Amino acid sequence: MIPQGVHRMKRRTVVVMPGDGIGNVVLPQALRVLEAVGFDAEYLHADIGWKHWVDHGNPLPERTVELLREHKLGLFGAITSKPKTKAAEELSPKLRDRGFVYYSPIVKMRQLFDLDVCIRPCRAFPGNPLNFIRRKGDGFEEPRVDVVVFRQNTEGLYSGVEWTDPPKQVREALETHPNMKAFAGVEGADLAVSCRIFTRQACRRIVRAAFDHAVKFGYKSVTVCEKPNVIRETSGMMEEEARKTSEDYPDVALWSTNIDAQMMWLTKNPEDYGVIVAGNMFGDIISDGFAGLVGGLGFACSANVGREVAVFEPTHGSAPKYEKLTPPIVNPIAMILSACMMLDHVGETDKAERVRKAIAEVIAEGKTRTYDMLRLPGGPDVLRKGAASTEQMTDVVIDKLQ
Ligand code: NAI
Ligand code: MG
Repeated sequence: MIPQGVHRMKRRTVVVMPGDGIGNVVLPQALRVLEAVGFDAEYLHADIGWKHWVDHGNPLPERTVELLREHKLGLFGAITSKPKTKAAEELSPKLRDRGFVYYSPIVKMRQLFDLDVCIRPCRAFPGNPLNFIRRKGDGFEEPRVDVVVFRQNTEGLYSGVEWTDPPKQVREALETHPNMKAFAGVEGADLAVSCRIFTRQACRRIVRAAFDHAVKFGYKSVTVCEKPNVIRETSGMMEEEARKTSEDYPDVALWSTNIDAQMMWLTKNPEDYGVIVAGNMFGDIISDGFAGLVGGLGFACSANVGREVAVFEPTHGSAPKYEKLTPPIVNPIAMILSACMMLDHVGETDKAERVRKAIAEVIAEGKTRTYDMLRLPGGPDVLRKGAASTEQMTDVVIDKLQ
């Protein structure tokens, strides 16, 4: 997909948002790889995250929003976010009591630019010691997991329409539903409601994106993973749209699973699945589940794609305790794979494939492994125990590109 306003031959501009903690460690490594693979781009730094909340009362500065609006392509590291009370306590004293309220800049970014399609590939690299293995007879087998989760990114249970002690009109409106009788005696203060809102348009967008991806990358099935037998309206709508959309893709099978059963099958037959599509929360759950089978946070990459703007980020957070370690030890692969997704997005699939192949070779050789791949507790001593540093891991990936 090439976003509007961005043309193939033009030198691209990428808005880079390292954010907090190890975002500052891994993002520069991804830029080294992009450079090494010959991606012709200019990078504009943009601020995001906790520091900007503390200093300015705004974790997503207006300039960052403007840059994304203009250039439409973002690479993002990670941010730190903390509960409301912590956020208020840490806000710079000169800004206190001036009405600043903390919000998640990632959620805000997704909403502002309607980044409604979240893509989370979970592909096992052969030789990764963190890959899931399964008992078979007297031995073990390692299923080849290659799943891409398409998660609706803006609606559902994360739409933020929720109350504890819902206002009177809301309560009355809810009571028009016969099933609310079961809650008739509950005090307002003891009643919490989070709305699961799906729109047909967003369901259509996410399932079509899933099918397009299946065709483009040769997956034989799209599985819609919801729970329509119980959550009839929202899950039902997603499944209905999947069924309708599938008619346009005769060569891709449509499967349907329930989220709970899917989590059970996660370890039973993960190799059977290709593309999976789900609403916001189930997509979040299922993608973390599959990511766990292929190495976890050091390997989990993602894309947030809207009609115009797209932002690419590792799934992991800012892991603040590792930011200041010198040299840094965290695994840069999730961030580098996220940069590959950006290359795919702008039509530079050959470069993305070259990088992924280089990573695959490094992992298959097994000589260079970051601490997470060795299952070591993180700390300054991991290098002595044979782990590669963040930079060393990037170096060997770059060497393989030559
Ligand atoms: P986290 O993902 O930052 O770290 C959890 C643990 O995973 C780390 O302690 C480390 O052991 C491991 N880990 C993470 N990234 C790794 C990497 N690249 N290589 C090797 N190991 C890695 O999650 P945590 O500790 O729950 O949250 C820390 C902060 O990050 C919080 O403020 C949280 O709100 C924020 N966060 C931000 C996200 C984002 O920016 N998208 C996502 C998740 C959390
Ligand atoms: Mg998650």
